[in-house]
Amino acid sequence: MDNHQLSFDDWDEVINPPPAITDFDRVVERALTRRGFLGGTLAFGGFSLLASTAMPNPAQGSAAPAVFSFEAIAASTRDTVTVPPGYSAQVVVRWGDPMWSGVPELDRDTGGTAASQARAFGDCNDGMDVFEHGDRTLLVVNNEFTNRGYLWPNKTGDGPSDDDIRKGMVAHGVSIVEIAKGGGGWTVVKDSPLNRRITPETPMTLTGAAAGDELVRTAGDLSGTRCLGTWNNCGNGVTPWGTYLTCEENFNGYFSTSDPDHTVSDDMQRYGISTRGTGYFWAKIDPRFDFAQHPNEPNCAGYVVEIDPRDPTSVPKKRTSLGRFKHENAEAVVNGDGRVVVYICDDEAGEFLYRYVSDRAYVPGGETEGLLDDGTLSVAKFHDDGTGEWLALTPGTTGMARAAEVAVNTRRAASAVGATTMDRPEWVASHPDKAEVYCALTKNQARGGGQNAGGDPMTIGGPNPREDNRYGQIVRWWPDGSDHAADGFTWDLYVLAGNPSLFDDARAGSENVTQDNMFHAPDGLKFDSTGVLWIQTDGNYSNANSYAGMGNNQMLAGDPVSGEIRRFLVGPRQCEVTGLTWSADRHTMFVGIQHPGSRGDGHWPDGGDAYPRSSVVAITRDDGGLVG
Ligand code: FEO
Ligand code: CA
Ligand code: CA
Ligand code: CA
Repeated sequence: MDNHQLSFDDWDEVINPPPAITDFDRVVERALTRRGFLGGTLAFGGFSLLASTAMPNPAQGSAAPAVFSFEAIAASTRDTVTVPPGYSAQVVVRWGDPMWSGVPELDRDTGGTAASQARAFGDCNDGMDVFEHGDRTLLVVNNEFTNRGYLWPNKTGDGPSDDDIRKGMVAHGVSIVEIAKGGGGWTVVKDSPLNRRITPETPMTLTGAAAGDELVRTAGDLSGTRCLGTWNNCGNGVTPWGTYLTCEENFNGYFSTSDPDHTVSDDMQRYGISTRGTGYFWAKIDPRFDFAQHPNEPNCAGYVVEIDPRDPTSVPKKRTSLGRFKHENAEAVVNGDGRVVVYICDDEAGEFLYRYVSDRAYVPGGETEGLLDDGTLSVAKFHDDGTGEWLALTPGTTGMARAAEVAVNTRRAASAVGATTMDRPEWVASHPDKAEVYCALTKNQARGGGQNAGGDPMTIGGPNPREDNRYGQIVRWWPDGSDHAADGFTWDLYVLAGNPSLFDDARAGSENVTQDNMFHAPDGLKFDSTGVLWIQTDGNYSNANSYAGMGNNQMLAGDPVSGEIRRFLVGPRQCEVTGLTWSADRHTMFVGIQHPGSRGDGHWPDGGDAYPRSSVVAITRDDGGLVG
């Protein structure tokens, strides 16, 4: 019987007598309390909750002062960026905008050429940050993938041309653009000496635990310390010493082999590497993407990469000690004892949440090389009683032969120690003023029955409480003793997303979800300097069925103290809202709009019959005030 088809009352009759109440039930119930379930037994996902008010929830004080300076806006299906009254949004840079003079504007009939794209802003912008350098402002932006329907308008039945394939390749990576604010708002400074495109062809070094190991030695570099390029750059981070971290997510789909009978190893299958690839065709123009010929090339991707955006000649460094998986973002904090802690997630159903702790302390102005190489990688295990622990990943704990194997086959290492399978962990955000950390678990419809790619069961429990989880949730934790390097933590659920207009069970979400602020698929997360948590969504934009009333993807602001969540921005049709940062003076908020019109029904930002183009927008207050 599908429990989701039962009404609350029907299910109440089925479970008689009810199962014993567990600590796990109580943790989830705390998140749901005041949803209107008081006084009865709530059932979903194969377990039950006896509602009670016994457990305090730090997210549920109602006396906290309002922290938001804007009026909430309604959900929308309009093909535009909507912001609250008193705010304005302006496009800063679009896919294909030239970064140097002499580069042609994007040709909508061709989508440009490899040569033009290599000197223009990349496609599908995602994580980003702003860096000040003297009197210059640098916007550093990930370009995650390509919106191929618009990239290859000329494609014939024979597939993309070699130039189109290479155009797609160089539309990936990172764009470093100087921007300046004038009377018309923020614009790109063409020909800035700091402008730079980093692509899948840019030389990089491998550092840390895997560097030099046989697993990363390739025909291109027998030393195992050099490789080419970065791609599928998703979320990001910044280091305490002011460099940029770009995170390689779905690196797997770019590899393929012309032999469909080639045996794909278990370790490659764990990362979704397949003989067919996912339609980028890179092996056709560059044999290093043919893993039958070059079996170690995939081991050189799937890392966090450190880039110094202020030095256009710097060589990016792949920090292998932070593990190899489908990296979402990298939230770096300086612990009380000076050690550098980086929270990192693997965005795939049933994969894991990780933490890196440096051996040495960071000293401002001191040597920073090695801080992201020499340290301990751990993985999170959540207990149903609201506690959790970090399990170190070493040869000793995992049974692997050496640290390099842990760094390269990190998923297998984490499975070996029994980490908690998560509902697709996306961005992590750490509170600016206290040891309190949040992670978006975007959704996971295989929760309750499925397994991850390594065969670990995705059982219901911990911060993953709902079967067939189509809405997602945000978990947060408090490190023991406010020490980010401690072995243990306590946790709760900040929000369970849901649709209270359709459901009166756990699919309605937690009490801080209402018909006025509902959303699903939380993904991008970032705190502003005032301690407001910004939440960006990457969900189903149909506005129908389970998602009726939610409109286009959006960005909301959350108060960590009261639990209140308020909608701030709605994106254009068929986009994802992802990537968020601020100007140094906090008078501008930069927000990323990715793959607008991706289903062919959208023309943002240029309107009319124009191509839709992924873009970065600048949001300001009309009164010139601060925006975070
Ligand atoms: Fe690129 Fe998991 O988002
Ligand atoms: Ca994401
Ligand atoms: Ca996502
Ligand atoms: Ca995306």
